[in-house]
Amino acid sequence: MTTSNDNRKLKIAVLYGGQSGEHDVSLMSSASVMEELDDSKYEVTPVYINREGQWSISWEMLRAFDVVFPVLHGPMGEDGTVQGLLMLLGLPFVGAGVVGSAVGMDKVIFKDVMRAHNMPVANSIVVLRHEWQGASAAGDAEKIALQQRDIVERVTRELGWPVFVKPANMGSSVGISKCKTPADLPASMTEALKWDRKVLIEAAIAKARELEVSVLGNDVLQASVIGEVRPRREFYDYAAKYLVRGEEESELIIPAQLTEDQAKRIRALAIEVARAADVQGMTRVDFLMDGVTGDIFVNEINTIPGFTSISMYPKLWIHSGLTYAHLLDRLIDLARER
Ligand SMILES: Nc1ncnc2c1ncn2[C@@H]1O[C@H](COP(=O)(O)OP(=O)(O)O)[C@@H](O)[C@H]1O
Ligand SMILES: [Mg+2]
Repeated sequence: MTTSNDNRKLKIAVLYGGQSGEHDVSLMSSASVMEELDDSKYEVTPVYINREGQWSISWEMLRAFDVVFPVLHGPMGEDGTVQGLLMLLGLPFVGAGVVGSAVGMDKVIFKDVMRAHNMPVANSIVVLRHEWQGASAAGDAEKIALQQRDIVERVTRELGWPVFVKPANMGSSVGISKCKTPADLPASMTEALKWDRKVLIEAAIAKARELEVSVLGNDVLQASVIGEVRPRREFYDYAAKYLVRGEEESELIIPAQLTEDQAKRIRALAIEVARAADVQGMTRVDFLMDGVTGDIFVNEINTIPGFTSISMYPKLWIHSGLTYAHLLDRLIDLARER
């Protein structure tokens, strides 16, 4: 175990805050992590990154730590950038490396990797900012209207309505909306394009059940029991996830009510997804199940999943027999062993 051969406490830097739209989520996740890290084993130092990207200590000073635990959600934290920095500094860190983090963060690339591995994913198309808004600031209005009409036609032909419109690189439902009809698309595109130059438009899964699996390990991966999220709102949006009491706005059902065969398939798929995306340490693999046909679709992965006391990732492991503190021990061991 972690401290068997030396009685010196391991020095852990917990990175939190960050430049993404999920700054506040990170504050909540990191508070739980810091509270639960066993202080008989670890000397924990919070390292804050503000919304402008300034760090509370210099990068060089990070070398004084044994392990870095990035609890940063979204771009510039969960996407491989911070992971690259930590690799350059030669520091062990919790969670996926550069490639897995980047693949997990970009919803477009992630779906392409999944398709290459014959994993089931919803149909989607990609639209870049200039394809929707025109290339220049003072774009030709008529030309833009034509371009937008073409995109609407493509969605109708290839996906059908409703669709979900998502910025490629975001999380916590930031910038995501559902379009029931073509008339809803312009507002959704404008919102998504606030966050990214690349937008994923995806066929909506009917009466979707949201199933999530926690995966743990480096090369040898373990899958937890399956959890289900039942949002009481239109979909599992930012407010449902974090702003309101979890129990009131969305219900977590652990384990999810599934047949044995369904559960077996989903847990096996979760491991295949994590392998295909080349992630290490921890990953939450999220699925959508068509409520009518029972078909399973891989929706996304989170390489730094929500880690608050009401978050699915730790809860699933607690249900699978680990405590929150032991889960953190395992993650730190996995970081050092890599
Ligand atoms: N194709 C889809 N069909 C049905 N619901 C979807 C679909 N895509 C997303 N959703 C809903 O939107 C939520 C957020 O989308 P998701 O892709 O998980 O982004 P995020 O990274 O922000 O969590 C999901 O939890 C689900 O409720
Ligand atoms: Mg999600």
